Amino acid sequence: MKAQQLADNIFCVHADIRTDELFEGIWPIPHGVTLNSYVVKGEKVALIDFVRDWTDATAQHESALKSVGLDFTKVDYLILNHLEPDHTGYLAEFRAMNPKAEILATEKGVKLIQSFYKIDSGLRAVKDGDTLDLGLGKKLTFFETPNLHWPETMVTWEADSGTLFTCDAFGSYGALGDRIFDDQYTEAEHAAFEEESLRYYANIVSSFSLFVEQAVAKLGGLQIRCIAPSHGIVWRTNPGIVKERYLKYASFAKGGEASITIIWGSMYGNTKRGLDAVIRGIESAGVPYSSYRVPNDNISYILAAAYKSRALVLAMPTYEYAMFPPMSYVLDIFRRKHLKHKTVLRIGSWGWAGGAKKDYEKAIEGLDWTSLESVEWPGQADALTMAALEKQGRELALQVGRPEADAGNGPETSHRPDGDAACKAEPAGTSASGEKQYLCKRCGLVFKESELLDGRCPVCFSTVLVPVEPALS
Ligand code: FEO
Repeated sequence: MKAQQLADNIFCVHADIRTDELFEGIWPIPHGVTLNSYVVKGEKVALIDFVRDWTDATAQHESALKSVGLDFTKVDYLILNHLEPDHTGYLAEFRAMNPKAEILATEKGVKLIQSFYKIDSGLRAVKDGDTLDLGLGKKLTFFETPNLHWPETMVTWEADSGTLFTCDAFGSYGALGDRIFDDQYTEAEHAAFEEESLRYYANIVSSFSLFVEQAVAKLGGLQIRCIAPSHGIVWRTNPGIVKERYLKYASFAKGGEASITIIWGSMYGNTKRGLDAVIRGIESAGVPYSSYRVPNDNISYILAAAYKSRALVLAMPTYEYAMFPPMSYVLDIFRRKHLKHKTVLRIGSWGWAGGAKKDYEKAIEGLDWTSLESVEWPGQADALTMAALEKQGRELALQVGRPEADAGNGPETSHRPDGDAACKAEPAGTSASGEKQYLCKRCGLVFKESELLDGRCPVCFSTVLVPVEPALS
């Protein structure tokens, strides 16, 4: 792997990591990830951000450094924007190879160097606005960006080239091969990367979205020509794209886009059957949704989808007087990641006794979710319950998605599956289009011919229907 030039005497040294190991020990990286470091050469040499000994990452870095006439022993300054060990894991080895290099980080970063690597000498704590002159016109400035995503984080600015070295911020999953720059990828490839970018953001950064917004505002005065993160693409042509992308992701912390993420688990199909009715309701309102099954689907993808969506459906049975255990794990991650401000519908079946409700309500404390009335039922859902589930699915969709989809034609039913009111008949009336109308003998609904569901009542699915002709007025 060769170093790639960003600007005069500035190079990217990167390693592609392709492994079955999980990022942070939690998140899958089927498309890999990169560890990017940057060389800035003046009279002195600075290496910005570092590497861990992961697969053959250190060998890749060594090889790339060699391509620009360097090795770890020739580094004068090692600048650590962030101390998480994916960028610092090889630090003790570096210090053994190069005892003279000065290592720069924020004050909190220096403490972490001492704590993680037991290095106590050759450290310099830098503050907001401090500079480091490398000579030959290369001068670095440091800006503290706390909690992006650790408390010690900072970014490094090289004004001559307009390059901002951001470490985790503006990063993404995904290995790069020989193409590290944004202008080397097609639109389709960028679209695929954006999926990985959102997943990375949701997994790693989302809890700190407020600090993303603060950092972007703080750095707004810089004439940025290149954003150089330590994971993923280097944005030398359109840095504004990744900046706007991160601001959009940060905004999801306040709600999300008009879509629904369904997360479900089912032991014997009873909860799944109920969920199918909810989905019919969602589809009737035309709101996009995605669906993830637990424990089958990985939490990394579930978190990304849920973070992006304004609304959630959580469908799980009661399991031994409590929530289905895989859903407990999902909610634990949601709580840790501060997945707030969602509109949520919870449904589920129970066997000999309930219990999920109490467990669930405790699990979501503090998340500031807006909850629709839950629907729970014993064993297999009956027709009234199915009607209520479909109604709630539609209501959820209308609340968060496309209000214009509610043309007033949908059946209005109670949220409760347990009572006569659950399938209340609409007042009969003439369809605006002059369509035939039907009366459902089971639930009393009067509805238009176009609303028939496979010849059944759209609310209770009864086939006992009476044509009402001529149309009622
Ligand atoms: Fe890439 Fe927070 O480390």
